[in-house]
Amino acid sequence: MAVYIRFSNKDTLVIKAPKKSPLVLRMVVLAFAVVCGVYICSICLSQTSPHTKAKFLDIQVFDRPCNTSSTEQWETPYVHYPKPETYSREECSCNPVRYFAILSTQRSGSGWFETLLNNHTNISSNGEIFSIKDRRSNISSIFKTMDKIYNLDWFSSASKNECSAAVGFKWMLNQGLMEHHEEIVEYFNRKGVSAIFLFRRNLLRRMISVVANSYDKDTRLLNGTHKSHVHSPLEAQILAKYKPTINATLLLPDLKQVEETTAKALEFFKSTRHIVLYYEDVITNHTKLKDVQEFLRLPYGDLKSRQVKIHSGPLSNQVENWDDIQKALKGTSYERFLHADYQI
Ligand SMILES: *[C@@H]1O[C@H](CO)[C@@H](O)[C@H](O)[C@H]1NC(C)=O
Ligand SMILES: *[C@@H]1O[C@H](CO)[C@@H](O)[C@H](O)[C@H]1NC(C)=O
Ligand SMILES: *[C@@H]1O[C@H](CO)[C@@H](O)[C@H](O)[C@H]1NC(C)=O
Ligand SMILES: *[C@@H]1O[C@H](CO)[C@@H](O)[C@H](O)[C@H]1NC(C)=O
Ligand SMILES: *[C@@H]1O[C@H](CO)[C@@H](O)[C@H](O)[C@H]1NC(C)=O
Ligand SMILES: *[C@@H]1O[C@H](CO)[C@@H](O)[C@H](O)[C@H]1NC(C)=O
Ligand SMILES: *[C@@H]1O[C@H](CO)[C@@H](O)[C@H](O)[C@H]1NC(C)=O
Repeated sequence: MAVYIRFSNKDTLVIKAPKKSPLVLRMVVLAFAVVCGVYICSICLSQTSPHTKAKFLDIQVFDRPCNTSSTEQWETPYVHYPKPETYSREECSCNPVRYFAILSTQRSGSGWFETLLNNHTNISSNGEIFSIKDRRSNISSIFKTMDKIYNLDWFSSASKNECSAAVGFKWMLNQGLMEHHEEIVEYFNRKGVSAIFLFRRNLLRRMISVVANSYDKDTRLLNGTHKSHVHSPLEAQILAKYKPTINATLLLPDLKQVEETTAKALEFFKSTRHIVLYYEDVITNHTKLKDVQEFLRLPYGDLKSRQVKIHSGPLSNQVENWDDIQKALKGTSYERFLHADYQI
C-alpha cells in the first residue's frame, strides 16, 4: 500500500511540478516542428530536383563559351557574341559579330555605300535609324536603340540576323550625334563599336545634291513619289533635269560650316576605333571597299550596288547660276570644287 501511495504521490508530484512542464512541452513542440520542417523540405527537394537539374543542363548547353582562340588579343573588345531576345542564332551562335556605325552627312553617298555593304552575306546595315526623332530625343533613348541593334534584335529589310558577322547602321552628324558626342564616344568605347566615317571631298557637289533633293521632296518629279536614291538611268535622268539655283551669298559660309562640322566630328571621335573614307575614293578605287571589309574583319566579297548616280558629268551643267558660283569661289580655298575631280 505504502509503495502504491508513494508512487501515486510521486505521480501527483510529477504532475504537479508547475515550473518544469512548459519546458518539456516546448521541447516536444520544437522537436515536432523540426521533424516536420525537415520532412517538408526533403519532399520539396525530391520534387524539384529533376527540374533544377534539367535547368542547369539547359544553361550549360546554352551558355557554353565560344572558342575564342582565333581572336587576337587587341581585337577582344571588338568581338561580340550577342544573344538576341527574339530568336536563336543557332549554328552561328559562336560566329563573332562586329559592331559598326557609318557616320556621315546627307548626300555624301552613304545610301549607296550602305547598299554595297549590305550586298555582303554577313553585313547588316540597318539604315538611317536616327532619322526618327523619338529615337534620338535623349541619350537613354539613343542607348536603348543602339542596344537593340547591336543585340541583333532590330528588324529591317537589311537584317540578316543569325549569321550576321557585322551589324550597324548609318548616322548623320545632325541627328543627335554631335549633341551627345561625349556619351556616344563613351558607349562606342565601352561596347567596342567601330566608326566608319564617310564624307564627300567635293562639298559643292554635295550642296547641289542637297538643294536638288530638297526640291524633289516638294515637287516629286518621279510620278509623284520622292526618291533620294534611284535604281535606273531613266529615273536619274529625270531627277538630274532639274537644275537648282544656289544662293551665292550663302555659299561660302555654308561650305565653311560643313567643313568645320566634319572636322569637329573627327576630333570628337578620335579615341574610337575608326576609318575615314571619302565617297569619291570609294567610287574610283575598289581597294577602299576591301579596306572596309578588312576593318570589319570579314571575309572579302565583291560588293555590288544597283543604285545609279543621279548627277554625273560636269558641274557647270548641273546648276542654273554657274557664273555666280564661279565668282563666289574664285580665289578661295574652295575653288578646287569647281573643277571636276572624278569621272564616272
Ligand atoms: C579552339 O579552336 C582551335 C583552332 O581554332 C583549336 O586548336 C582548339 O583546340 C580549340 N579549343 C577548344 C577548347 O575547343
Ligand atoms: C549582291 O549583288 C548581286 C548583284 O546585284 C546579287 O546577285 C546578290 O544577290 C547580292 N547579294 C546579297 C547578299 O544581297
Ligand atoms: C527619352 O525619350 C523617350 C522617347 O521620346 C521618352 O519616352 C522618355 O521618357 C525620355 N526619357 C527621359 C529620361 O527623358
Ligand atoms: C556568313 O553567313 C553564312 C550564312 O549566310 C555563314 O555560313 C557564315 O559562317 C557567315 N560567316 C561569318 C564570318 O560569320
Ligand atoms: C510614270 O508613269 C508612267 C505611266 O504609269 C510610266 O509609263 C512611266 O515609266 C513612269 N515614269 C517613271 C519615271 O517611273
Ligand atoms: C540668299 O540668302 C540671303 C540670306 O538668307 C538672302 O537675304 C538673299 O535674298 C538670298 N539671295 C537669293 C538670290 O535668294
Ligand atoms: C587605292 O586605295 C588603296 C588603299 O586604301 C591605296 O593604297 C591606293 O594608293 C589607292 N589607289 C589609288 C590609285 O589612289
